[in-house]
Amino acid sequence: MSSEAGLFSPLTLRGVTFRNRIGVSPMCQYSAVDGFVNDWHLVHLGARAAGGAGLVMMEATGVTPEGRITPGCTGIWSDAHAEPMKRITDFIQSQGAVAGIQIAHAGRKASCDVPWRGGAPLPPSDPAAWQTIAPSALAFQDGHPVPHAMTLEDIKRLQESFVLAARRAVKAGFRLIELHGAHGYLMHEFFSPLSNHRTDDYGGSRDNRFRFVLETARAVRGEIPADIVLAARLSCSDWTEGGVTIEDSTALAAALKDCGVDLIDCSSGGNVHDAKIPADPGYQVPFAAQIRREAEIPTAAVGMISEPQQADDIIRKGEADMALLARAFLRDPYWAVHAAQTLGAEADVPPQYLRGYHQSRTAAPAKKAG
Ligand SMILES: Cc1cc2nc3c(=O)[nH]c(=O)nc-3n(C[C@H](O)[C@H](O)[C@H](O)COP(=O)(O)O)c2cc1C
Repeated sequence: MSSEAGLFSPLTLRGVTFRNRIGVSPMCQYSAVDGFVNDWHLVHLGARAAGGAGLVMMEATGVTPEGRITPGCTGIWSDAHAEPMKRITDFIQSQGAVAGIQIAHAGRKASCDVPWRGGAPLPPSDPAAWQTIAPSALAFQDGHPVPHAMTLEDIKRLQESFVLAARRAVKAGFRLIELHGAHGYLMHEFFSPLSNHRTDDYGGSRDNRFRFVLETARAVRGEIPADIVLAARLSCSDWTEGGVTIEDSTALAAALKDCGVDLIDCSSGGNVHDAKIPADPGYQVPFAAQIRREAEIPTAAVGMISEPQQADDIIRKGEADMALLARAFLRDPYWAVHAAQTLGAEADVPPQYLRGYHQSRTAAPAKKAG
């Protein structure tokens, strides 16, 4: 299923048009205070919007305080948390990019220190630590705390938190909302048999393990406007015997589509500490291709995509509808502009910077002064 579209073709999902197929993958910045965004987030995300990306996605943002990975992670568990995000989405959109947000709960992998202090679980004696929750009372690995197994009441309450978070995100100006169902965090913990040993309606059979994610997606879709894009990031494989397979993920993607999800962001891993992951260039692209083909839903490819030609090929071959990049955008906020130059496409350079790119495309004849 090849496509006429390339990396720099616009993409429309629901009521949202992306100027190109390049997205800034969500990246925790560990720089929030009590979950509140600040100037760091504005500058970090704003620079990448000015740098030409079609989608700029804010990091995994806790739907509850306990849903954060670290005390430095952003949160959206109150209206007061959403309010300062408006300045960020306004700026992103003023630069021609779409502002997205990943809403998340870190489950049994919450309550950790920030990576530059080692990233380990905070010891219970640390005043910043909190009790983690998960589908089952199974620690991520030795040395990690055993999470509290969620009751049915906990499940309902948390689903409501996702809905409230999504509503706040819309109010804050985000036009794409992504449910974080990857990397061993709470949603993934529910659908993976390795972390879900429940015996009630939320565990056991595949349908039961999918239930938390599907119910949440349906509830969120029901509460956000019809023109807002709903995406879900999935870990498409646990890379471990007995864990999630691409066949499971394809079935989950098809069911998510029926719940009104518009885009599957195809990642993998994170639920098994010693899984052997073949992290070569583009190693997760086949997941995006298979889900796009078999579940017939738009997909985003992510993971070890760093070269413009590589990203363009993914789109042209019809393997995915969008390419998300993380680390390449840490190295170069202007990756999209530079990719356009490499591929001979029109670069979306802010007018303030045009002279740096020696382009003739100036809004007005260049003045000598200034
Ligand atoms: C600093 C950093 C923070 C990240 N934070 C998140 C996150 O908040 N949510 C998420 O789903 N993935 C997160 N990731 C994973 C990336 O979104 C991406 O899936 C992964 O880095 C692979 O893409 P890459 O090879 O282009 O870096 C993070 C990655 C990095 C490097």
